[in-house]
Amino acid sequence: MTRARLVVGNWKMNPPSVDAAVALARAVAETPPPAHVAVGVAPPSVALVAVSAALRGSPVAVYAQDVHWEDRGAHTGAIAASMLAGHATGTIVGHSEVRREQGDDDARVARKLARAVAGGLRVVLCVGESEAEFLAGETERLIVRQIAVDAAPLQAARERSGALVVAYEPIWAIGTGRPATPTHASNAARVIRRALDGLGLDGAATAVLYGGSVTAASAPEFAAADGIDGALVGGASLAAAEFASIVRAFG
Ligand code: 13P
Repeated sequence: MTRARLVVGNWKMNPPSVDAAVALARAVAETPPPAHVAVGVAPPSVALVAVSAALRGSPVAVYAQDVHWEDRGAHTGAIAASMLAGHATGTIVGHSEVRREQGDDDARVARKLARAVAGGLRVVLCVGESEAEFLAGETERLIVRQIAVDAAPLQAARERSGALVVAYEPIWAIGTGRPATPTHASNAARVIRRALDGLGLDGAATAVLYGGSVTAASAPEFAAADGIDGALVGGASLAAAEFASIVRAFG
């Protein structure tokens, strides 16, 4: 099974201004990705439209960092999946920072995923265990539970299940400079695919990314890891040259 490779830079609440985001997008677009590697960037929502305009005609896709589960209405601070039409090809949902800071639980993540997929977006669904769960040997149980709830809406939209990408992001590896081992990531990818199969979806056809302290130095070992099809990159995606080396590692 050959799956498409994908590297996405999650810029989180960076860089410091819309102008800086546009400049970073232009710098990313200067290095064309190797054949068979898709590249995306996920700017903060205030910069989405400007970044998308700057990247028009380039192979770099634009992703939102989150969407709301409703399509319209009294939801201060949120953006609707449908508002991304013409500006983004996909969105992240279920990032651990959104779960932690905005109170997303699996039920909410599932509703966001459903709304995004219905809106024709590609979804990068983030799952991953906390440090305590990791140390307690509960990684597998946690991932299985997250996938079973978060990806369940795709059972009713199986024709759109190709829109799903899963990012395995152990919380203890995010922003710590302490990535998971490639073996741990490969095991997690296997668990994710088995859980997708359990929902009647096609695990083998679903791209699984690794995220958590990926750098130019660590990318090659994740690129070589069994079942890992790409990376979701935080801090190291804010420097275009380093991000380009990460992308190249997956080529
Ligand atoms: P870092 O690469 O900064 O660890 O962040 C990973 C991440 O959360 C990407 O979504």
